[in-house]
Amino acid sequence: MACQSLWHFTLVISILEAFTTSMLAEGSNNPPIMFNAVDRCWRGNPGWFEQRQQLAMCSLGFAGKMKNNVGENVTSYVVTDPTDDAIDPKPGTLRYGVTKLTGKIWITFNHDMHIKLVKPLLVGSFTAIDGRGASVHIARGGCFMLDRVTNVIIHGLRFHHCRAQASGKVMGPSSKMMRLGATDGDAIRVVASTKVWIDHNTLYKCMDGLIDVTLGSTGITISNNWFRDHDKVMLLGHADDFHDDKNMKVTVAFNHFGPNCNQRMPRVRWGYAHVVNNLYQGWALYAIGGSMNPSIKSEANLFVAPESGNKERTGKYESRNRVRSRRLGRRATITSRLHASDYHEDGKKSWNFHSVRDYFENGACFKSSEGQARIKPNYTNDQIFPVADARVVRSLTRSAGALRCRADSRC
Ligand SMILES: *[C@@H]1O[C@H](CO)[C@@H](O)[C@H](O)[C@H]1NC(C)=O
Ligand SMILES: *[C@@H]1O[C@H](CO)[C@@H](O)[C@H](O)[C@H]1NC(C)=O
Repeated sequence: MACQSLWHFTLVISILEAFTTSMLAEGSNNPPIMFNAVDRCWRGNPGWFEQRQQLAMCSLGFAGKMKNNVGENVTSYVVTDPTDDAIDPKPGTLRYGVTKLTGKIWITFNHDMHIKLVKPLLVGSFTAIDGRGASVHIARGGCFMLDRVTNVIIHGLRFHHCRAQASGKVMGPSSKMMRLGATDGDAIRVVASTKVWIDHNTLYKCMDGLIDVTLGSTGITISNNWFRDHDKVMLLGHADDFHDDKNMKVTVAFNHFGPNCNQRMPRVRWGYAHVVNNLYQGWALYAIGGSMNPSIKSEANLFVAPESGNKERTGKYESRNRVRSRRLGRRATITSRLHASDYHEDGKKSWNFHSVRDYFENGACFKSSEGQARIKPNYTNDQIFPVADARVVRSLTRSAGALRCRADSRC
């Protein structure tokens, strides 16, 4: 919905809302449980614990199917020890599994644990880290870094209070000792990497971003995650002068953003993001933004505007893009742009933001670019998936974040 016609559409939404609420209420006290296209593929299987690799074929979007992470040659490794040593990792620890083993690795955890990494963990290629069956926290230390790798699955972990780290030596993949520069405290940092699937993780309260995808990374799917209590949530694209990110393609699907997220859900520079079927439970500065010729297809998301704006964060970009909903008597802020001036190259507007079948509540609106063709994702057969109606997004994202799965039943 365009921002100008706020008055009319608020009315329409109210009528639609009343209509759908009455439909859902009929006949049942609990709203129906709906699995989204990823979950439908594996969560109904009571044998998931024995058939963990089934998960790899459930990915969708630009990561495609993670078929290179499965097969007879996969080494299974179980984390039994939550301690960490960045230089000489002990058998049983997460860092040992990630750095000392070679080939394809599928990592699981044998009990609930808090892992405080003393340095960022450099995750190697052909690695799946699967937290299902345990409550695994990666917290209060370094977090994950994917540096020039491919075919990585990160599933079912809880990342929080990730902290900046000084530079220093760390053991990297294939037992290679490396010197790592200082890091900012991102939960998952993806650098120059391809074919990465980040699914069903819970992420909050880190020093820098929750997920950063940069430096020419592409073929990334970020699905079913729960992002909350954070300022700068997700950055796709490194810097205004890093043109290589124009090839970046990222799918952001079935995630739950909020409560208490401020901005960048995501912020896109250069590349293309298909942002689809996500729940936005408020924001302070904006939900989706971009600069430097990005293309964003925002499709069938549910945007629920915040009850009130964040006064401390009223900057020039917010006031430029602020929308006042007089009817609701409160301020609703959503911008399709962060740095408006960044869209101009040689005096021409070159950004391409489109909102297709999105659904808006509380006076939310979306400012689309004008006069440009909508850019389709052009998914291959391995990547394509059915997009649901925005009005069922609450249901589709109800179990976003790390799941609590028991070994002996459906997850
Ligand atoms: C497994 O590894 C062996 C030995 O390296 C190789 O010959 C075989 O082709 C591999 N199998 C698969 C399915 O990749
Ligand atoms: C999909 O194909 C069209 C037509 O070739 C192209 O204009 C568009 O940029 C493509 N989309 C992406 C995400 O590359």
